[in-house]
Amino acid sequence: RIDGDGRRVFELELRRGSAELRPGTRTETYGIDGDVLGPTLRARRGEQVRVEVRNRLGEPSTLHWHGMHLPAEMDGGPHQLIGDGATWAPEWRIDQPAATLWYHPHLHGRTAEQVYRGMAGVFIVDDPGGAPRGLPSRYGVDDFPLIVQDKRIGDDGELDTSEGPFSPSGIVGDQLLVNGTPGPYLEVAHERVRLRLLNGSNARPYDLGFADGRAFYLVATDGGLLERPHRTTRVALTPGERAEIVVALRAGERAVLRSFPKALGMDVWNRRFSGADDALDLLELRAARTLESAPPPARTLAELPAPRVPADAPTRSFELTSASTIDDRSMEMERIDFAVERDRREVWEVRNSHGLFHSFHVHGVQFRVLEVDGAPPPPELAGLKDTVTLEPDQEMRLLVRMRDHSDPNLPLMFHCHLLSHEDRGMMGQFVVV
Ligand code: C2O
Ligand code: CU
Ligand code: CU
Repeated sequence: RIDGDGRRVFELELRRGSAELRPGTRTETYGIDGDVLGPTLRARRGEQVRVEVRNRLGEPSTLHWHGMHLPAEMDGGPHQLIGDGATWAPEWRIDQPAATLWYHPHLHGRTAEQVYRGMAGVFIVDDPGGAPRGLPSRYGVDDFPLIVQDKRIGDDGELDTSEGPFSPSGIVGDQLLVNGTPGPYLEVAHERVRLRLLNGSNARPYDLGFADGRAFYLVATDGGLLERPHRTTRVALTPGERAEIVVALRAGERAVLRSFPKALGMDVWNRRFSGADDALDLLELRAARTLESAPPPARTLAELPAPRVPADAPTRSFELTSASTIDDRSMEMERIDFAVERDRREVWEVRNSHGLFHSFHVHGVQFRVLEVDGAPPPPELAGLKDTVTLEPDQEMRLLVRMRDHSDPNLPLMFHCHLLSHEDRGMMGQFVVV
């Protein structure tokens, strides 16, 4: 709703519920305004938004706006605790390109469990000034958010939250859900559909494509549209990452969205127990007998100037050293690791020196990838990103610019988005001054 001051107001309730995550079984869940997951929030660039988050969970939580540019006190990280029974009402002005962002709890030490039990949702940012022609954009008609998650459900029908003796990366489940639904299908009535894919899993990596090998267009990554559509047959997402794809269908056919094995540079053991060896069917697209025609994506989707590194840009390095540390240190709520100057471009060099894949996510910003192992980024990393995957021994150089907000007292986070790693301390904090 729009209130008297022209703000777009959302009301959300964190609560418990139950849902059919496995056919024929009811499982206890956490949800946001519903039994599992949360509603898609949507706002336009330039709008002032206010979200009233009421916590009825019976335990403390937080709600973080992943990918959003906003002041640290609105970020919903571990410092913006919402006590049981309390309401938290962050407010900020949307000022970033159109993108598929998301929201989820971020309570330190409990993020993995609260997300796994069902709390997450998509937040779509629209940019009236930058909408390209030729992209399907009717929500629920030819434009669908798909939250991809895996769960493990015990014999008692309840979520199994144990990480198991071998799992190097956290909970890896065998029950696949899309938007909280097992065995999902989507009826399609248009020649082309846009799928906004979110890896909302705790730990599982996906390498998404179609069972019949058909090509599609990758049109957007975490923080917004690519400069040009990228024709491909696969898009890899580790937890927290998003990708928007446009796929063409023929009348009457069925197309299965599948996740394929991808080694991610790991040895046999880590591949197997992190889920990287698995092939899984996610969703069946069922095309109607007659389809409404739709144009292919425009040749140019967005203006994305090549990243420019000023000669005096400070450089910082980060080493992913274990499943609980960055630079051999674990997160401490009271320790701030460094300060960056608002609007100053910095080069962040991130290196994975551990034998498992990890990711690197930064709050409050969309960054650019300058190099991957010394080479220019591939098309899927050439756009706006807030989370990147690092294979063992891989190194990335990122251009980070905290453009809009500063707060010398309240920190933002950087961390691995494998949620149990984050909970174990694979996270640090910085302030923008
Ligand atoms: Cu999606 Cu710090 O998180
Ligand atoms: Cu985040
Ligand atoms: Cu990690």
